[in-house]
Amino acid sequence: MAKNAALVGPKFPQVLTLVGATGDLSRRKLLPGLFHLCSAGFIPNCRIIGVSLDGLDAEGFRAFARAALDEFASRKLDETKWANFAAILDYVPISAGAAALKTAVQAAEQSIGGECRRIHYLSVPPNAAISAVHLLAEADLVANSRIIMEKPFGTDLASAVALNARLHEVFAEEQIFRIDHFLGKEPAQNILAFRFGNGLFEPIWNRNFISHVQIDVPETIGLGKRVAFYETVGAYRDMVVTHLFQILGFMAMEPPTALEPKPISEEKNKVFRSMLPIDPKDVVRGQYTGYRAEEGIDPESDTETFIALKCAIDNWRWAGVPFFLRTGKRLAEGQRIISIAFREPPKSMFPAGSGVGAQGPDHLTFDLADATKISLSFYGKRPGPGMRLDKLSLQFAMHDTSFVGDVLEAYERLILDAMRGDHTLFTTAEGIERLWEVSMPLLDAPPPVRLYEPDSWGPKSIHQLVAPNAWRLPFERARRGQKTTES
Ligand code: BG6
Repeated sequence: MAKNAALVGPKFPQVLTLVGATGDLSRRKLLPGLFHLCSAGFIPNCRIIGVSLDGLDAEGFRAFARAALDEFASRKLDETKWANFAAILDYVPISAGAAALKTAVQAAEQSIGGECRRIHYLSVPPNAAISAVHLLAEADLVANSRIIMEKPFGTDLASAVALNARLHEVFAEEQIFRIDHFLGKEPAQNILAFRFGNGLFEPIWNRNFISHVQIDVPETIGLGKRVAFYETVGAYRDMVVTHLFQILGFMAMEPPTALEPKPISEEKNKVFRSMLPIDPKDVVRGQYTGYRAEEGIDPESDTETFIALKCAIDNWRWAGVPFFLRTGKRLAEGQRIISIAFREPPKSMFPAGSGVGAQGPDHLTFDLADATKISLSFYGKRPGPGMRLDKLSLQFAMHDTSFVGDVLEAYERLILDAMRGDHTLFTTAEGIERLWEVSMPLLDAPPPVRLYEPDSWGPKSIHQLVAPNAWRLPFERARRGQKTTES
């Protein structure tokens, strides 16, 4: 059993209904994550009922889960643990209807015996969420349950408001867990630890010391089996209005009065309320060459596979500090960074040619990979005669510590939190609706998509967007122990 697993696990046994059980997310993340949580002892007593459109039976679902684990589990598969996990899996095709689902959940509860809790994970696209909610209501599975909703939560302000209203007809707000898996990443939580656990950084965390911020999440992957979903959604709805804005919330919020759901949501929502509406002039939408020729894509598709934008938080802490966000598919490198550029010194005593300032401003960089990495770059003296300055850096990598084996993958952490009823790392209806509200000028009048070559960093106009600053990625100098490079 993982260290302290039983201490942080849910109080009651859990029956989890996984709607969308044969989808991409389930295969890649949810089934491998649930396997780890169960086999490491975090959820000592659990039953999982897969639900989806596919006409499988329990054996078929077990075979599906095994294939998913073989392909995507991050840890080596132990056969005894697999046998134990396979034994807790069951399956109900949607075509079997609500009564069959109810029977399966009741059978699972009886096999556990004693008091247990229900948790429903809706891993379905936005247009299928409400019918899944109704299926659960018809199956009488609402009482004594919690529901995890996948993003994107709606596709614009009106649909998000309507979705929240219809959801509230069935589930009470405290039963709902709107997941944003970026908030479950250890490094995202580390932003809070770093900012509020130290006296050193918070005093400089404002417009007086910070010149601009970049939240940059380029991806090398294409769309694979997700084309049908992605074509209707695009990069802004898939990544920005969800993950990137939530990270921005953690980065920009005021200290909460406590590390609890309500105070944290209040502070994040204040940031979202202070955000200025997104101006389409501050947005670059891109599409990689060849996207339109892919199977299932409209040959005249206007869906963006890339987006870069500038946004502003108009409050006392951040007025005048631009936040640049970028993400896209089929880009040159896969990275997930928050990079904070500090203001340069007001005056330089170094002689011309000394190198001071030549490699951009000092940066604090958070790497949002599963295990935290943080670096602080600064100018220091190059050894030897005279005074030549060079960019140096202090670097921390969780990989260098003995804790690295304890890192929970984002979905694992969030599923566990939802089972424990802890809303701290989940988003709220109010916050999401506000983010759609600031997005509406862009969604109503999106600038045309510009083509970019696969394996590039996006359309050329991204440089104008950040001028006179520059994109931090690609890094220019080697990180310690890594091939990637950083300045
Ligand atoms: C998902 C998006 O929510 O996040 C994907 O739908 C994206 O398009 C993924 O690739 C990125 O997540 P991660 O954890 O791999 O950075």
